[in-house]
Amino acid sequence: MQLALLLFLLVGTCRADYFFGDLKDWFDKITAPNEYCNREWITLDGKGYGKGLEADLGRYLFGQHIASDVILNAMTGFMNNDNPKKSLVLSFHGRAGTGKSLASQLIVKNIFKKGMDSRFVHFFDSIINFPHASLVETYKSQLQNWIRGNVTNCAHSMFIFDEMDKMHPGIIDGIKPFMDYHYKLDGVSYQKAIFLFLSNGGGEIIRESTLVSWKAGKKREELKLEDLETALSSLGFVYYGESIVVDFFIPFLPLERQHIVQCIMVEMVAMGLQPDHNKACEISDKIVNYIPDDERRISVPGCKRIAGRLWHFMQ
Ligand SMILES: Nc1ncnc2c1ncn2[C@@H]1O[C@H](COP(=O)(O)OP(=O)(O)OP(=O)(O)O)[C@@H](O)[C@H]1O
Ligand SMILES: *[C@@H]1O[C@H](CO)[C@@H](O)[C@H](O)[C@H]1NC(C)=O
Ligand SMILES: [Mg+2]
Repeated sequence: MQLALLLFLLVGTCRADYFFGDLKDWFDKITAPNEYCNREWITLDGKGYGKGLEADLGRYLFGQHIASDVILNAMTGFMNNDNPKKSLVLSFHGRAGTGKSLASQLIVKNIFKKGMDSRFVHFFDSIINFPHASLVETYKSQLQNWIRGNVTNCAHSMFIFDEMDKMHPGIIDGIKPFMDYHYKLDGVSYQKAIFLFLSNGGGEIIRESTLVSWKAGKKREELKLEDLETALSSLGFVYYGESIVVDFFIPFLPLERQHIVQCIMVEMVAMGLQPDHNKACEISDKIVNYIPDDERRISVPGCKRIAGRLWHFMQ
């Protein structure tokens, strides 16, 4: 009996670190502050002035002056309005790897204290979440219930829909009422919610327009939202139908070699390497492929695939 006790204590002391380590994790978990639906947890970078978002867009999102401007102004205006008439709906368009997901992450990071881990941020991907056309009605009512439930819990909920161009029109129809000018639907107000739609649709329209403006001797930075929005909103017509629920159609311009160089520099730092501009320029021609015969050297995968491929090209 005593021997067993001694043994138990011995094992116990040897394992004390583990034991108290676990205990500490558990304790941290139960005492960690919960996330609440209030200004302490949901506000544009603490003060509502958008300085953090502005800085992040400027620092991390390359070559997207239109998207950066529109996002910043839309977010600042909406988050500082105590009585918005409708939810904020932004539709991001552009080729793959041009920064749509990155931009949505920067928005989330600067509004929700818990960032992407916030329980008030809801992410859907049409291909993963709503894959079967035969189940449209099921998806639709499920999604309606989720949106209703979450907005009832927290008016400032955010919903991000990726691969919007692959979403079944029936599902889009089902969620449109939440984005429109309704004071309340079934007693719930959706006016403080934010909806972000991401899609590759319009990528070609945007590329054509940038090319036309470039050929007319304009600089990339001179391109304005107005130059592209008409074309994009006619595309939006196809997605969202007649009712105008989208506040801004935001173009993400195709990325050029200079932006690939910037993305390579970011990855060099991420890999713990010394950022080397000359080397980045040198490999920028090989690490991604460019649209053939395109004088502007538009990258086909945008800044995608750089992370995975960099090590090889650094050898
Ligand atoms: N404009 C950009 N500025 C800085 N980094 C970028 C930019 N575009 C893409 N990247 C980087 O490239 C990778 C892919 O970008 P992201 O996921 O945002 O592309 P996307 O536009 O959402 O593409 P897809 O349409 O395929 O979803 C990320 O690592 C991101 O940081
Ligand atoms: C909120 O949305 C999530 C999906 O992101 C869903 O699983 C959950 O059930 C919803 N909550 C309510 C209360 O409807
Ligand atoms: Mg994406």
